[in-house]
Amino acid sequence: MRIDVLNGVNLDILGRRDPELYGDSSLQDLETQIYAWARELGLQVRCRQTNHEGEFVGWIHEALDGADALVLNPGAWSHYSWAIHDAVEPFVGPVVEVHISNVDEREEWRRSSVLEGLTHTRIVGRGVAGYREALEALRGLA
Ligand code: DQA
Repeated sequence: MRIDVLNGVNLDILGRRDPELYGDSSLQDLETQIYAWARELGLQVRCRQTNHEGEFVGWIHEALDGADALVLNPGAWSHYSWAIHDAVEPFVGPVVEVHISNVDEREEWRRSSVLEGLTHTRIVGRGVAGYREALEALRGLA
């Protein structure tokens, strides 16, 4: 199973954001960890991050033919980018939405997600371990 793990806006500054919410791993630590988990679970994973919404949308388009499943943390775009909703809509494989922090217990505006109704699983507030849970959920489907 080929899985694209796409992190969006501001996830590149992990490790410099509030550690109470996001922990202290950097994006590089996170991606190294994800590749190690993927090897352990026998999954083929590609991790990417961008601060540019159009690039993120382009990677989702690439995944339409190039990936079997998606793990998405669009950051703040999750709460308002209907462009990301529309890009994900035609994706036929399972989509797991991950948020490192517990968005359901933060500001009101973080509680809604444009991915609602498009995801197989939504994992929030589990820290970086949420990405491992996402991979495990997808392996269970393989
Ligand atoms: C986040 C939660 C979003 O509300 C926030 O804008 C982020 C990170 C998370 O992983 O907890 O940038 O997606």
